[in-house]
Amino acid sequence: MTRHFLVDTDLSPAEQAEVLDLALELKNSPYSRGTYSGEGAGRKTVAVIFDKTSTRTRVSFATGIADLGGVPLIMGAGESQLGHKESVTDTAMVLERMVATIVWRTYAQADLEEMAASSTVPVINALSDDYHPCQLLADLMTIREHKGELKGLTMTYLGDAANNMANSYLLAGVTAGMHVRIAGPEGYLPEPRIVDAAKERAAGTGGSVLITTDPAEALQGADVVATDTWVSMGQEIEDQEVKSARFALFRSYAVDSAAMARAAPDAVVLHCLPAYRGYEIAADVIDGPQSAVWDEAENRLHAQKALMVWLMERS
Ligand code: CP
Repeated sequence: MTRHFLVDTDLSPAEQAEVLDLALELKNSPYSRGTYSGEGAGRKTVAVIFDKTSTRTRVSFATGIADLGGVPLIMGAGESQLGHKESVTDTAMVLERMVATIVWRTYAQADLEEMAASSTVPVINALSDDYHPCQLLADLMTIREHKGELKGLTMTYLGDAANNMANSYLLAGVTAGMHVRIAGPEGYLPEPRIVDAAKERAAGTGGSVLITTDPAEALQGADVVATDTWVSMGQEIEDQEVKSARFALFRSYAVDSAAMARAAPDAVVLHCLPAYRGYEIAADVIDGPQSAVWDEAENRLHAQKALMVWLMERS
């Protein structure tokens, strides 16, 4: 059976741990796996499709595929027939006859599911409107590096909690047995279906879920503090008044020195980047001693290599 990675819970707790173990191994031995090269490896090309802009995801997948002996075929928005002249299913049925793996950054989660349903090669979600599961593998790897473990730690996410990062923090965090706290303003909290899925997963891992509008409650003693932009990709706002009103709503959820004073003294700070200093995160926090964001960015490479190896070995 072909394995895909479309949402954080596509990996069981044990499988997530295996991928993270492999990611740490590959960080130490970057060229030890020839998944897309060598005798018996088969196909070399990995299709990497971007319907939205990217720096980290694009570079880390291109580099990681090359490190594994493969050839990245990067396709930008509008460079293929996908989405305007050809259906997702027809595209999948062509790609699966040529490439080893399909990596896709797009809007609708349903489109990723349609791609996977018609593909006999692994499909990886490189960010959708609903989830950013590759980012969370890198985040969990970074926390393991800094804290030595995941299970039992408290991870707090502040800000726009109705976005893909909040959803993935919830689902990936509880899969690792973490206590995940999410704080955002009323109307910007995760949908009940995501919270229910996270609680169901947490019941089997010892993790827990707290959803609140109170940032202080979410921050108290947290081991990890994370945030993301207040305006996600695809939500860009042209009207300055609308933008100012949105920022005013989120201001009390900023990760600044006052917020960090509520977290554990040795808490680490994560941000998937790009960051907007002075808005969702203060400059002295992202550039300060508790920040792990540059390790987090680098770990996209190692975590995604591990994911590609793992999916190929099990598909
Ligand atoms: N964090 C992240 O996905 O970065 P990019 O949008 O630059 O790929």
